[in-house]
Amino acid sequence: MKTGRPAVEFENVTVSYTRGNPILRNLSFSIFEGELIFLLGPNGGGKSTVLKTMVGALKPENGVVRLFGVGIEKFRSWWMIGYLPQNAATFFENMPLNVSELLNSTRHRGRGMSPEEALNLVGVEDHERILGMRVTDLSGGMLQKVMTALALINRPRLLLLDEPTVYIDQPGVRSFIQLLQKLHSEWGLTTVIATHDVAAISIFASRVICINREALFDGSIEELTASEQLCSLYGFHVYTLRHGHRWSEK
Ligand SMILES: Nc1ncnc2c1ncn2[C@@H]1O[C@H](COP(=O)(O)OP(=O)(O)OP(=O)(O)O)[C@@H](O)[C@H]1O
Ligand SMILES: [Mg+2]
Repeated sequence: MKTGRPAVEFENVTVSYTRGNPILRNLSFSIFEGELIFLLGPNGGGKSTVLKTMVGALKPENGVVRLFGVGIEKFRSWWMIGYLPQNAATFFENMPLNVSELLNSTRHRGRGMSPEEALNLVGVEDHERILGMRVTDLSGGMLQKVMTALALINRPRLLLLDEPTVYIDQPGVRSFIQLLQKLHSEWGLTTVIATHDVAAISIFASRVICINREALFDGSIEELTASEQLCSLYGFHVYTLRHGHRWSEK
């Protein structure tokens, strides 16, 4: 669903970790407010690099990045961006923090919801117990939910999720999809999901952007799955995409 105003713009963006060895080359695309986008591509294709560039953690060597119409170097309203990095849980697993301290650490005063509300939102029912637990004592799946609550606590307008379902069991993936649908319909939240778990989430993605360093496909999931050539170019298994388990059909 395009509402006209771009939430993210990349114009001829080139990004390198080591100068002279670009990982992304001349990448251009726009993501519009209210869209839910899949970022797809093979391992090492550059999906996480795109998301890191969107949050300003990596500076492009060339090109322009804008968030909500503002050049990223001038962008200051970081509460608007919720980010779940790939393997986010591993950053915190050994931290001497409990869940309440972790959630309060990024909470924007005035805008942010309470840690209880944030945990409720991601489907954690016994939040009193969980809030008091040390981060290091959580299971991988629960820590992933807490990290998702952390990304949502300030009611962001753009949510960036890097491999959000890797630690989650199948019923958990289903509730996660329901959460994304709710955020999308109730908050009109613009969401970008980098994932290999296409079959699980493809039911409601509005657009797919495939990254393989310089190659780029930008279109509908139907268009992508209809082409064996595109699927093999981007490293997808056509069978999984066409016949993947669709939660909505259960
Ligand atoms: N900190 C870093 N320093 C140097 N090179 C890096 C760094 N992080 C990633 N790379 C390289 O950049 C390329 C793109 O990596 P990236 O993590 O963006 O890919 P990806 O599409 O997210 O892969 P995956 O599907 O495995 O998560 C890879 O070749 C990777 O080795
Ligand atoms: Mg990645």
